Parts: sequence; structure tokens; C-alpha cells
Amino acid sequence: MELNLVDWLRLLHPILAVTVVFPLLGIVVSRAVLTRSRRLGSSDDRKKIPANVGPEHVQTGQWLAIAVIGIYLLGCGRPMVAFWLKQQTLSQMPLQGLLVLVTYGVTLGALWGILRAGNQRLWRWTFSGLTAIGLVVLGWQEGIFRRDNEWLISHFYAGLAATLLMVFSLAIVPEIYRDRSQTWRRLHIAANTLAMILFIAQGITGTRDLLEIPLSWQESTVYACDFDKASPTYKTCPPVPKAPQ
Ligand code: HEM
Ligand code: HEM
Repeated sequence: MELNLVDWLRLLHPILAVTVVFPLLGIVVSRAVLTRSRRLGSSDDRKKIPANVGPEHVQTGQWLAIAVIGIYLLGCGRPMVAFWLKQQTLSQMPLQGLLVLVTYGVTLGALWGILRAGNQRLWRWTFSGLTAIGLVVLGWQEGIFRRDNEWLISHFYAGLAATLLMVFSLAIVPEIYRDRSQTWRRLHIAANTLAMILFIAQGITGTRDLLEIPLSWQESTVYACDFDKASPTYKTCPPVPKAPQ
């Protein structure tokens, strides 16, 4: 079955999640476990595990954070643009489109700033704050399906939380190395254990959403179904005229 451009654009986000983000996550977690075993394990562990697992964890961790932020921005961008095209927002409110574009630019610029700030804590945290604000502002644009009334099973809210945890991880890298009391290291582990759970949740809610969202040529039929939980005809669809072959 051929896919048209609209279908491809819709599939790009899950495709990149499955082919880029999740494999990277595997590498980052495997290096994380090795880093900890090398630091705290038996002397045998320390001899066997190469010294570069720590730096490798951080380097691939940085790519993971960039990839997750990118995929979040893409996940929000496609439905936003589709909404604008449908409502003709751009011709009526060009300023809104421009502001969203500027916010995208500021968010990506601030992400670049975090990576460039190095040991300058004030800049690093300022850029991290800016990145986080950009992500939140973009997430609350019209057209994005957030499941506000059932946020516990929402792909959007867990995705936002996981993405913010990636920004936090980028922000505190020098603190983890500098801190003798290990507080930042512990905070990092707690934050990313939670992020792992959220990533698994994204795998579940994302594939669920893929089953709910139709291909473009099926939209007129699927969107005629009743998705409203409060309605007595919830989860019913109009009869399909042609029986399946
Ligand atoms: C889900 C993803 C992640 C998990 C589960 C995770 C987990 C861990 C664990 C278990 C450690 C070892 C702690 C110890 O030595 O006791 C660690 C170290 C570290 N992580 Fe992560 N992390 C993740 C993502 C990231 C990201 C995105 C960054 C940012 C670039 C990062 C930066 C660091 C740094 C700087 C260290 C210290 C490395 C060292 O001691 O050589 N991590 N992480
Ligand atoms: C790294 C983890 C992921 C993050 C941070 C993330 C984030 C997001 C965000 C913020 C949205 C927009 C809000 C929404 O429509 O729910 C979205 C949409 C979506 N995501 Fe994900 N997602 C991730 C992984 C996945 C995976 C693994 C799949 C499926 C295999 C998936 C499938 C989808 C689908 C189908 C949409 C609707 C897209 C559209 O209407 O254009 N996501 N995602």
C-alpha cells in the first residue's frame, strides 16, 4: 500500500523514535550500568571494564538528549502545522505563526547554548531554562492532542516530562563530576530512572496512538466514529457500506 506525503510526515516521528532514539537509549543505559560497576564494583569488575565507559555514556547521552528534544519538537510540529492549514490560521494570524517559528528558533538556539556553555554554570542553567520554557510553550499550541482529561495515559505529558528530564541531564553534567558528596550523581540516577519508565510509557502510548490515527485516505470513515467517552454511542462507528473482501 502506498503512503502519500501526509502519511509519511505523520509517520516520521514514530520512525525516528524507533530507529534512532530507542537504539541510542539502549547504548546509553548499557554504558550507564558499566560506569557504575566500574566505579563501585569489585576489583575484578574494574579491571575488566574499559576506562572510557564513563565518557562514552556522557557522549551518547548528549546525542540521546538532542534526539529526544528533536523528536518532541517534531511530534508537536506536525499536528500544529496541519491545524494551521486546516483552520487557515496563517492567513488570518500570520503573527502567531511567526511567534511559533521564533520559539522553535530560540529553543534550538538555547539547546546549542547548553552544549557550548561548558563550566559556566549561570549560562548553562539559563540556556536550560530557556530550552525548557520553549518546549512547554510549543507543547501548548493549538492542534496538539494532549489528552488533558486523562493525562496519566497521555503520550504528550509523559513525552514532555521525559524531554524535560533530558534537558536537566544536559544541564548538570559538570556538577556530577565536581560534586564530592555525590548528591548530583544520585539526583541524575533518580531523574533518569524515572526517564526510563517514561520512555517505556512512550513506547506503549505511541504504538496505541498509531493504531488510533488513520492513514489519510481512511480519515473520513475513522473520524466518523464516536470517540467521546461521555456519549452513549462511545466506541461505535457508522456501518461501512462495502463489506471487507
Ligand atoms: C535514560 C538515560 C540515562 C540513564 C539511565 C543514566 C544513568 C546513569 C548512571 C547509572 C550513571 C552512573 C552513576 C554512578 O557512577 O554511580 C550515570 C553517570 C553519568 N551520566 Fe547518565 N544516565 C542517562 C542519561 C544521561 C544523559 C542524557 C547525560 C547527559 C549528557 C548523562 C550524563 C552522565 C554523567 C556526566 C555521568 C557521570 C559519568 C562518570 O562518572 O564518568 N546521563 N548515568
Ligand atoms: C522518545 C520518546 C517519544 C517522545 C518524547 C514523543 C513525544 C511526542 C509528542 C510530544 C507528540 C505530540 C503530542 C501527541 O500527539 O501526543 C507525539 C506524537 C506522536 N507520537 Fe510520540 N514520542 C515518543 C515516542 C514515540 C513512539 C515510540 C511512537 C510509536 C511507535 C510514537 C508515536 C506517536 C504518534 C503516532 C504521534 C501522533 C503524531 C501526529 O499526529 O503527527 N511516539 N509524540
